[in-house]
Amino acid sequence: MQIKSDDTRWGVPAQFFHWTVLLLIIALGALGLYMTGLPLSLWKEQVYLLHKSLGITLLGLVALRLLWRLVDPHPAPPDGLPRWQHRVAQATHAALYLLLLAIPVSGWVFNSASGFPLRWFGLLPLPALAAASKPLAATAREIHETLFWVLVALVAVHAAAALLHHYHHRNHVLRRMLPWGHRRRDPGAAP
Ligand code: HEM
Ligand code: HEM
Repeated sequence: MQIKSDDTRWGVPAQFFHWTVLLLIIALGALGLYMTGLPLSLWKEQVYLLHKSLGITLLGLVALRLLWRLVDPHPAPPDGLPRWQHRVAQATHAALYLLLLAIPVSGWVFNSASGFPLRWFGLLPLPALAAASKPLAATAREIHETLFWVLVALVAVHAAAALLHHYHHRNHVLRRMLPWGHRRRDPGAAP
């Protein structure tokens, strides 16, 4: 099992964080869009609790991922990639990380400003990030929803770029992020 990333592939922890975050975003987006239209009921309360708890889990995972990035080497860009494209990829990754922090934090602020307590999966009480305030709750809710759609758009661009590398440029960019990807460099790359 490869722990650290190198130029041929991303290590197991980096891949685990990357694909778990994707699954969590799909679950959180689906739950979020579904739950707001529910009539008041115990079911609605439970779905909200699940959404918030999964969102806090994602926040923790992103924090761990950022810490891991400090010690994990970054694979080199594929050979022949124009410098500006590498810069755009780096900026996209940074923006994705910012959104992954801002969305759960705005959800947490919304929850606090609405005056609701927060318990991670009903077990661990978490502090309020803000005092109860209707205007703040409305702003945080707006930010939460808007940033979610920005995230959806950016992930679409990011995933499309990965597919373009794989099917058009035929390099190892997607393969090295896949658990079943082969451990090999671009054909024709320097040894
Ligand atoms: C990356 C993590 C998260 C994503 C992608 C996400 C996504 C969403 C989406 C798509 C909605 C529906 C927005 C709407 O149509 O009004 C929503 C609503 C909501 N989210 Fe999140 N969320 C995340 C994390 C959190 C966290 C950590 C909390 C609180 C601790 C939270 C609390 C809420 C609440 C309370 C609502 C309902 C808003 C309302 O009732 O109008 N979310 N979320
Ligand atoms: C179908 C969806 C996705 C595909 C196909 C995909 C593909 C990839 C690939 C191939 C890489 C490696 C790039 C390289 O080696 O230079 C990568 C890196 C990255 N991806 Fe994705 N990705 C997807 C979804 C996401 C999502 C949902 C996020 C976060 C919101 C995300 C955030 C990142 C980040 C931050 C990196 C940089 C490496 C890291 O820090 O982990 N990706 N992605």
